Amino acid sequence: MDKTENYEVKDIKLAEFGRKEIEIAEKEMPGLVATRKKYGPSKPLKGIKIMGSLHMTIQTAVLIETLVELGADVRWASCNIFSTQDHAAAAIAKAGIPVFAWKGESLEDYWDCTLKALTWPDGSGPDQIVDDGGDATLMVHRGYKAENDAKILDEPTDNKEVQIINAVLKKKLEEDNQHWHKVASKIKGVSEETTTGVHRLIQMEEKKELLFPAVNVNDSVTKSKFDNVYGCRHSLTDGIKRAMDVLISGKTAMVCGYGDVGKGSAESLKQEKAKVMVSEVDPICALQACMAGLKVVTIEDALPVANIYVTATGNKNVITAEHMSMMRDQAIVCNIGHFDNEIDMAGLEKLPGVVKEEIKGSDCPVHRYTFEDGHSIYILAEGRLINLGCATGHPSFVMSNSFTNQILAQIDIANNPDREAIVVRLSKELDEEVARLHLNKLGAKLTKMSKEQAEYIGVKVKGPYKPEHYRY
Ligand code: NAD
Ligand code: ADE
Repeated sequence: MDKTENYEVKDIKLAEFGRKEIEIAEKEMPGLVATRKKYGPSKPLKGIKIMGSLHMTIQTAVLIETLVELGADVRWASCNIFSTQDHAAAAIAKAGIPVFAWKGESLEDYWDCTLKALTWPDGSGPDQIVDDGGDATLMVHRGYKAENDAKILDEPTDNKEVQIINAVLKKKLEEDNQHWHKVASKIKGVSEETTTGVHRLIQMEEKKELLFPAVNVNDSVTKSKFDNVYGCRHSLTDGIKRAMDVLISGKTAMVCGYGDVGKGSAESLKQEKAKVMVSEVDPICALQACMAGLKVVTIEDALPVANIYVTATGNKNVITAEHMSMMRDQAIVCNIGHFDNEIDMAGLEKLPGVVKEEIKGSDCPVHRYTFEDGHSIYILAEGRLINLGCATGHPSFVMSNSFTNQILAQIDIANNPDREAIVVRLSKELDEEVARLHLNKLGAKLTKMSKEQAEYIGVKVKGPYKPEHYRY
């Protein structure tokens, strides 16, 4: 580990390699390069302290350096213990941008890194947050709540991660019992990257607990219908193949959840010529799966036949320990949803007589679990996001769409410091602008609608975009 006041990374000597990959990524991220060109000179984020909690990958490095070029003062941590690309983190550290992230953090390290990224050298917090899954937002909100009622930190829980957050917050409470109140009062907003993080924000808004405004980046069309679908289409089987080096063709795969990520995941497996089945709780998504030629079944139906399982629901306990005990020998089980509780890992660890062996360590985590009856299954990335734990996540072009939305959201927060604490999304015009910035690179030529045509079908010809918002 290489550690200074300003960074904690695995190996700072990886910076040169990271820089070369960042340069390649920039060529595939036209949206971010265009925003640098457009907003770089006017610096709309000048002096704004931005904290990021988002996978510290090569693509994220290009996002971070775009924020810096627009004037921001940035600190960063990853939002997953296995997703950091150490050469990306090293390049960011070498560029003088504070970063606290490495591949294979413990959960204690993870929350310590999040706290360090949330804390500037003078003890103050950020003005704005870029969040992915809501952990930075959760730390501020839970810290704030504990300052009002310290008892919440002593509530009994067998959730190891909650125990760890509570311990970090207790220590902070002893140092300064108003820290999170001061931090929260200065935050002008958060832009949230993913479906699960947006769900958390909406729940907070509904309970009137949200302390600052939030921009839902996930539901820009150029995010959820691109990153979640096409990104997973690329990166799911990349992860499975790096982990297991197994032929997917001809095997039976079960995808739990047929939302955006499930659709991309099913396609990923289909294009490898697997026989794909899906499970759904939503009748519309189930019907969509049927129309895509997929068999819609329950997890129980899949147990005697499936060789590969992928959870993509954002829900919990979708695959239980009991399910795993009934799977076929050599089944591969992984999750591509945000958190690690879609597969009941805690329940699996507690099952009597199960033997766990590490096949590969934190660079590409694979574990074999052998049950009392002698059959074994493989769990990839310890039940955390397979595509970032066992591979390198989505490719740059897809992330350019997501991250251009992130940049526009951060500018939007800076331009609207007095917005009420609600969840909004970016305007359709901004969404269309993100798409437009990516068309040239693909050689696409957009047709212009004439005024007469627009009048004929009754739509307005688009002018320059307006800073208009949609409630979630
Ligand atoms: P979504 O809401 O579009 O889809 C989730 C689907 O799961 C829904 O159709 C829902 O009906 C279904 N579902 C819920 N509970 C279920 C259950 N018990 N059994 C079967 N189906 C169930 O969400 P999404 O955008 O597809 O995101 C899914 C998850 O993936 C989220 O946690 C999100 O944050 C995460 N995500 C991961 C990546 C990645 O790179 N790994 C990228 C984007 C999003
Ligand atoms: N989410 C999915 N893929 C990613 C990537 N390459 N970088 C950052 N976040 C991601």
